[in-house]
Amino acid sequence: MITAALQFCPSFLDVERNRDTLASYLEGVDADLAVLPELCTTGYFFHDAAQLAAVAETRDGESLRLFRRIAADRNMLIVAGFAERDGEAFYNSAATVFPDGRVEIYRKVHLFAEEKTFFTPGDRGFPVLHWGDRLRLGVMICYDWRFPEAARTLALKGAQVIAHPSNLVAAPRLWKPVMRTRAFENRVFAVTANRNGEEQREDERLVFHGSSQIVGPNGTVLEEVDEPYEGWLQAEIDVKKADEKSFSSWNDIMADRRPDAYEL
Ligand code: ACM
Repeated sequence: MITAALQFCPSFLDVERNRDTLASYLEGVDADLAVLPELCTTGYFFHDAAQLAAVAETRDGESLRLFRRIAADRNMLIVAGFAERDGEAFYNSAATVFPDGRVEIYRKVHLFAEEKTFFTPGDRGFPVLHWGDRLRLGVMICYDWRFPEAARTLALKGAQVIAHPSNLVAAPRLWKPVMRTRAFENRVFAVTANRNGEEQREDERLVFHGSSQIVGPNGTVLEEVDEPYEGWLQAEIDVKKADEKSFSSWNDIMADRRPDAYEL
């Protein structure tokens, strides 16, 4: 399976322009699974709730319609971070769009910093999505990286690949080895699509560090890019490798767990 992650700089609040950019990237990639960054249609650093409300979309909105069309045309799974409106609530969400038109939504469980003032925390846990017998996919968003429970929950539920749309402001020297560890300790693939560029709000500035990576189940980096890079990174992966949880005839990292001894 060819897995791809997109690194680019969304234009803040310019949803139409971002959709055009994303459409041309998606139409030009040859992949089975394409992972886009967190909030890739809107940008990140909202000034107030009204600004978020003006750009958030429902699951039937134009952005997801675009992703559905491209997923069908190109027979590709697309994971895309977007600002979701559901009634009066707003979620920092990632849609997984299947070629047959099915859409599944993960809502970010661990909200970062001021996201807590705009978004409602995810209320659906960590679902694992089945693409026939081709792939079992888990999704977590950005700051979820700091919580081993997120990746562990997905792995225990059978995920082979964790898609990780991100707008990481933390230094790559922190999160990159941690995501390698998340892959290693769960023996899964991890695909971090992190945006780059900057956003300014009055005298506050956020810098997003790109440096996206695709990691294999033994913690090896399969593909990575630097901070300024714009475009896709890709790796061909054998998802069945994530089903091999033993590393010797004695040890299987799932079977050897001792939940009876853990105080969680
Ligand atoms: C983050 O969770 N966007 C840092």
